[in-house]
Amino acid sequence: MENVRKLPEVKYQELELFIDNLEAPKESLIQVLHKAQSIFGYLPSEVQLFIARKLDIPASEVFGVVSFYSYFSTEPKGEHTISVCMGTACYVKGSEKLMNRLESELNIKSGETTKDNKFTLKGVRCIGACGLAPVITVNEKVYGKVKEDDIKNILNEYI
Ligand code: FES
Repeated sequence: MENVRKLPEVKYQELELFIDNLEAPKESLIQVLHKAQSIFGYLPSEVQLFIARKLDIPASEVFGVVSFYSYFSTEPKGEHTISVCMGTACYVKGSEKLMNRLESELNIKSGETTKDNKFTLKGVRCIGACGLAPVITVNEKVYGKVKEDDIKNILNEYI
């Protein structure tokens, strides 16, 4: 059965053009995946299958690479990614409460994206700033010694 594509055809065309201009497409899987993620924002299975067919390589190879590297995402991401450190130092200092507060403010669970695509929320392992525990990051910006009551103000910076 023909695979039904849900994502915009014009994005597929952009990716196809990029692949067609590569000198050695088969050897350029990582490069193609980077490009695909920047075009689509994430790499759902329909895009991964398209790449496998286009490069004429097994889909399992594409799936394997995507799941191996954490910078490839198979879920849509919001405009801003909020990461709550769940490492030991942060956990002991109350990062779970911060996560709970964020979940209720944003009305989503960890790992999800808000309906308006503004925020993605996730728990992460120690980011190496334990002296600032508990730590959350929004995109690349680090917030240290965060208290529950700071959450609203932090979110307001991005609304
Ligand atoms: S445990 Fe959170 S930064 Fe190390």
